[in-house]
Amino acid sequence: MSYRWLALARVLHVLAVVVWIGGVAAVTTVVFPLMRRFGSNEQKLWMFREVEKRFRPQARLAWLLVGLSGFYMVGSLGAWARFTNARYWWMDAMVVLWAVFGLMLFVMEPLVVGPRLERRLQSEPERALARIAAMHWVLLVASLAVIGAVVAGVYGWF
Ligand code: HEM
Repeated sequence: MSYRWLALARVLHVLAVVVWIGGVAAVTTVVFPLMRRFGSNEQKLWMFREVEKRFRPQARLAWLLVGLSGFYMVGSLGAWARFTNARYWWMDAMVVLWAVFGLMLFVMEPLVVGPRLERRLQSEPERALARIAAMHWVLLVASLAVIGAVVAGVYGWF
């Protein structure tokens, strides 16, 4: 029975990762380039607010599911010792990435980055968008690297 719960946790974990990182990929490779082509600052600001409004709740929910299912799997596999074993560096990478996104989603974006970006989108939109786009590229590449490393790690590559 507990094996079934483990399998379910893994299914939810991977689905939540797909929704969340897939969203980051769409925002990075589709939304930001499109925004940069808009003529007026008002349009840019409107698009930014609309995308934020829709994507942020999804990303937060997915983040929560990834964390809950992830720690459930660690407990259920009795795998806590992996976090101090260098061979399992990809386990630490998952948690670090999750923590960085948590900080962005719940602290930095609503309190610091978001309000500052709103101001900058009105005064210097090109630079503001270039910076936020670059930051998303870094997060996307890091996420893909971690996903690749985890799948390879589960199959004993490291
Ligand atoms: C609190 C954070 C996290 C914890 C505790 C956690 C824990 C785990 C555990 C225990 C497994 C199963 C490993 C095994 O079967 O040996 C797993 C699988 C996986 N995790 Fe995480 N994880 C977390 C965050 C993340 C993040 C942020 C990502 C992606 C960006 C991610 C992607 C994956 C993937 C793709 C698998 C499935 C690998 C496979 O079955 O081939 N995890 N995670």
